[in-house]
Amino acid sequence: MKLKAGQVAVITGAGSGIGEALAHACASRGMHVVAADIERNAAERTATALRVHGGKTLAVAVNVAHRDEVQHLAERTRQAFGECHLLCNNAGVSINRPVAECSAADWEWVWSVNVTGITHAIEAFMPMLKRQNAASHIINTASMAGLVPLPGFGAYVASKYAVVGLSEVLHQELAGSSIGVSILCPGVVDTRIFASERNRFDRSEGLAHTQADTDAHHSGSMETDFDDTYSRMLSPQKVAEITLAAVEKEHLYVATHPEWLALFKQRSDTIESVFGGSIAH
Ligand SMILES: NC(=O)c1ccc[n+]([C@@H]2O[C@H](COP(=O)([O-])OP(=O)(O)OC[C@H]3O[C@@H](n4cnc5c(N)ncnc54)[C@H](O)[C@@H]3O)[C@@H](O)[C@H]2O)c1
Repeated sequence: MKLKAGQVAVITGAGSGIGEALAHACASRGMHVVAADIERNAAERTATALRVHGGKTLAVAVNVAHRDEVQHLAERTRQAFGECHLLCNNAGVSINRPVAECSAADWEWVWSVNVTGITHAIEAFMPMLKRQNAASHIINTASMAGLVPLPGFGAYVASKYAVVGLSEVLHQELAGSSIGVSILCPGVVDTRIFASERNRFDRSEGLAHTQADTDAHHSGSMETDFDDTYSRMLSPQKVAEITLAAVEKEHLYVATHPEWLALFKQRSDTIESVFGGSIAH
């Protein structure tokens, strides 16, 4: 879809990192931007900073894990702009913890933001996207962790594989319609993702995590045994530019870190070899 001045972009997680950079990249093209984030101040900071570009902006505080808040975001967008042309389902959180050590609360939190947050937005915005005359595009932020397994990030990887899966199906189901879909799969980006627990919440008291959990993971440091090759960090601005260029080319997959191809191939070759084996039997 061609991105043009006057179109409306709705971006979750717009208060920081990739979402904030997407907001600036859209606004610099003359688009109006709805900056949504669980951190009200961060959403407002982004919306205020975008005004230099001249478009209209709206800041909305939303926890994407909560269906009613995402419905409210869609309603605020409809009231303010009537249409949405670019829906960036970008809000996401990460936990650096082995699968065997993840608590029920860990799974619940990561899944509720990274996956259910996206399904809530699809449910809330789809009626508007289908009703409006103008074309639209949905960008779901997954990760390279949605294409290759990363030890130490099991809950995150599982959620991002789910984002890839649901987006691939959505893309096929919307083929031939006026709604495009892209899946953003970056490697490492210089953002605050490794301090995700700053925004942690518990939906159910029965799944409460301990303060120790939070303290242990609040440092914002990245404890991984990534090979140097896969630690190359891109700026969020670069990722945003690559992403918008891919939307204009209607690319389903947006890969920002080509060096990760080797890891992806390792996985796909292994799967492919098993298919070969089963055919032989
Ligand atoms: N940084 C990376 O290396 C990297 C790599 C691949 C994918 N990603 C993905 O990019 C997306 C953006 O993350 P980022 O790296 O910019 O991190 P970030 O922490 O800098 O930004 C994430 C934003 O999402 C917001 N947020 C968190 N929970 C929320 C919730 N429940 N509801 C609404 N907003 C919420 C945060 O307040 C923050 O402003 C995420 O989906 C992340 O998984 C990041």
